[in-house]
Amino acid sequence: MEIVIKPDYDAMSRCAADFVETSLRRKPDLVIGLATGSTPLGLYRELARRHREEGLSFAHATTFNLDEYIGLPADHPQSYHSFMRESFFRHVDLDASRTHLPDGNAADIAAECAAYEAAIRAAGGIDLQVLGIGNDGHIGFNEPSSSLRSRTRIKTLTEQTVRANARFFGGADKVPHHAITVGVGTIFEARQCLLLASGPDKAAAVAAAVEGPLTAMCPASALQFHDACTLILDETAAVGLKRGRYYRYVYDTKPAWQQWEKPAR
Ligand code: F6R
Repeated sequence: MEIVIKPDYDAMSRCAADFVETSLRRKPDLVIGLATGSTPLGLYRELARRHREEGLSFAHATTFNLDEYIGLPADHPQSYHSFMRESFFRHVDLDASRTHLPDGNAADIAAECAAYEAAIRAAGGIDLQVLGIGNDGHIGFNEPSSSLRSRTRIKTLTEQTVRANARFFGGADKVPHHAITVGVGTIFEARQCLLLASGPDKAAAVAAAVEGPLTAMCPASALQFHDACTLILDETAAVGLKRGRYYRYVYDTKPAWQQWEKPAR
């Protein structure tokens, strides 16, 4: 795992945008796995700015989102379909036919999950998977005790996740309890993973994911087995790491040919 620690949320977001931009310029038809939630909003804003002001193009890219609530109409303001449209898709030149989210209103949820996996395979697999992390260590909606080999399926949200997401819905009683999520196994097959975390409420989950044991009780810990995983954290999300000094040293002394970040602006 590569651990990058940035001073604050904006610096984390810019650094993540550099990572995505570098990947996209190397491979314009990049297949990108996308996350929702508060964490990647700054990344999406910065990518949209680079599209607008610097000509960064997503015209040949394909996207697959991690998850969607079950039972919310796709045009509900809190559906992940709406979230992605408002926070990213409508600001860049992605081809709508190549943006994918699970259909949380499918009549046959199991068939929808199988079709989503098949669509990822048909696109050639995910090149770069962007991830956030829940304060219980979930990635996607793979809650603690999720199989580390799981595929796209229905999951029941924990009470902790329902409470954490209540802020978007104006109350925990309005948060759906079920979601379709790609599995830990699906995420694991991405060629590169990029996990972002910001804020002190993520510090324990980040420490467990990076320095704790590999365990289904912290699904993000599965990333320890991934051979190309970068975490970009802000200072407050990194405070629980015992080897923070070492990670900074590794990053600061990285050979030039390994660097992907743009010079500070
Ligand atoms: C959502 C997703 C979740 C979030 C996690 C953190 O697509 O994949 O795993 O990344 O719940 O959410 P925020 O960023 O709102 O703290």
